[in-house]
This record gives sequence, C-alpha cells and structure tokens, in this order.
Amino acid sequence: MIGIIGGTHILEIDVLSEVEERKIETPFGVAEVEIGRIDGIDVAIIQRHGKRKNKPPHRINHAANFYALRSLGVSHVIGMGSVGCLKENYSLPSLIVPDDYIDLFSGVTVYNESLVHITPGFDEYLRKVLVETAREISSFPVIDGGVYFQTRGPRLETKAEIAMIKNFADCVGMTAGSEATIAKELGLSYAVICTMDNYAHGIKNEVVDYREIVKKAKENADECLRVVGQAVKRVWMERF
Ligand code: HPA
Repeated sequence: MIGIIGGTHILEIDVLSEVEERKIETPFGVAEVEIGRIDGIDVAIIQRHGKRKNKPPHRINHAANFYALRSLGVSHVIGMGSVGCLKENYSLPSLIVPDDYIDLFSGVTVYNESLVHITPGFDEYLRKVLVETAREISSFPVIDGGVYFQTRGPRLETKAEIAMIKNFADCVGMTAGSEATIAKELGLSYAVICTMDNYAHGIKNEVVDYREIVKKAKENADECLRVVGQAVKRVWMERF
C-alpha cells in the first residue's frame, strides 16, 4: 500500500474513492487514517493537522502516524506541504522537491529507550518520481532538490531568523524534517513535494501573514494533489 501525508487539503484529492475512516492504536498513540483508492490502487491517507484541524505542527504525533501506516502494510509515503520561499530569485508559486533538510530543534524519534542513530535523508527514488511527474503534468516551475529548513512553529519566523537560515536552505516549513526522520527510523521510504506559497518573512521585504499564506496554499494545493495522484500510480506500477 502507498501512504500519503498532507495538510488540510489532502482529502480533496479528486481521484480518491471508497474512503474508509480508521483510528489506529499504536505504541505512540492513536492515528487517524483514511483508507481509499486512487484508480483501483489502495492508499492510506493522513491529514497531519487532524480532521478537526486541532494538531498544530509542534503537536503532530509523527511517530503514531508513520507507525500506523507501516502497520497497514505501507512501504512508500509521499508527503505534501506548504513552504515559505527563502530565495528571492524564485518565482512563485512553484513546486519544490527538497533533497535534504535541517531540523535541529524538533528532537522527534521513535527510539526513546534504545540507542539507535539513523542516517537521515529523503528517499531518492520517490523524489525522482515526484520531480519527473511534476515536470510532466504541472504548469508550475519545479525545483529539483534544495534544503528544507524545519522550524518548530506554530508561529512564523522573525526577520532575523529568516536572514540567518536563508544562507543554508531554500525553503522553510514546519513538518517535513520530522516526517523524514520518523519514516527513516521505521524503515519507510519518504519524500515530500511542497508548494512554495509565499516569500518568507523579510525576503523581498515582505511581511508574512498567516491568512494570506493559507489562502495561497489553498489555491496551489490542487496542482500538488494532481502531481501526487499521478506519482502514486507510477510508484504502484514500478514497485508493487
Ligand atoms: N514559514 C514557515 N512555514 C511556512 C511558511 C513560512 O513562511 N509558508 C508556508 N509554510
């Protein structure tokens, strides 16, 4: 089975049928998963902020989410997200499929009682599928690679924070680093495709406003969903 983790628009994926809601108990807590089909392919979908939008980034239970997916037989997980752009020369909106991340602050792990030190990173096969699919079917510019900087959230960043991190990363978000870490710890393949919806605070002298970001993210999510739907079909054909 293929897993998809996304933000609030994820359940609008228009090719999804036969949706069944499940609450799955894990050693880390309960995960809310929707099981459905995309063109006959079984997929398990998690809306990371919860169906009631009650899980801000720092309270998402990544360990429960990925453990639940694995217990359903998921081996490959595609993430979707919204990010702020750290480069003033990128045009927006665009799609980015990062190839590395910085997450110095979340401390997420499933290994709380044993000494295990994974080597983190995104899955290169899934990344390639996402980039190629996006280039084939999306009208947005597609950025292949780049560093995702994860902040703890839920607040946005200060101008000083962005002035610092823009030297080391291409986009800023609040979830994909943690997801990549937990996926790797649990032996799942994971990569993420993000819509770059706004320039981060102070880039282009712009002030960021949460409501504006949500509005843009909503407009751009459809494009990302189309790519993910198509990528799922390709992974299914090539790996299952
Ligand atoms: N900062 C952090 N996360 C984000 C942003 C941002 O500017 N835009 C979308 N997600």
